[in-house]
Amino acid sequence: MTAIHPSILSADFANLEAELGRIRGADAVHVDVMDNHFVPNLTLGLPVVQAIRKATDLPLDIHLMIDDADVWAPQYAELGAESVTFHAEAAKAPVRLARELRGQGSKAAMALKPATAVEPYLDMLGELDMLLLMTVEPGFGGQEFLDIILPKIRRARQATNDMGGQVAIQVDGGINAETILRAADAGADTFVAGSAVYSAEDPDEAITQLRSLAG
Ligand code: DX5
Ligand code: ZN
Repeated sequence: MTAIHPSILSADFANLEAELGRIRGADAVHVDVMDNHFVPNLTLGLPVVQAIRKATDLPLDIHLMIDDADVWAPQYAELGAESVTFHAEAAKAPVRLARELRGQGSKAAMALKPATAVEPYLDMLGELDMLLLMTVEPGFGGQEFLDIILPKIRRARQATNDMGGQVAIQVDGGINAETILRAADAGADTFVAGSAVYSAEDPDEAITQLRSLAG
């Protein structure tokens, strides 16, 4: 099932409620949490996610680009996030953490930076609801899609198909009307788009267009 998750990193942070109102057709809201340690940038944390939870009925897809994921990720699940993504590079015990998130009623998702291989994690795919393959170095919106990730997407899709296809494959970074075609062709089904959605005059229209291109 094709899903479009707009990233509010490209929205107007001073008007988040109104900005959420411009993406009513989204499948979920992608929220980028950055701590200035795991990535060089700093964005928002638990209090702002709590406010966003109250401001929208859309599912929340929380992308944690933070250290100490084992400690922090469950707190986002507790706030009512439908899905919490931690980075493999920031988790001490990814299997235990994924089980904890699922135990809290959230979807468990794990992200890999561009240079992190997927192969060491294939045996734990059954612990995950979603695998996020970063298509830029995490930290900033508006970067160029990395085509070198396409083979990794294909290998991950093959592996999820082999095990019954229950794991969503998300891509994040540089997704637009052109790159979404290549990512979808490689096997991604869940697409984060920040600048491509929020730089459009009508973000909801951009979501519809991206969904039809990918589907
Ligand atoms: C980058 C973030 C992305 C970002 C994507 O580290 O994880 O979610 O918002 O922005 P675009 O779609 O502009 O590349
Ligand atoms: Zn993200």
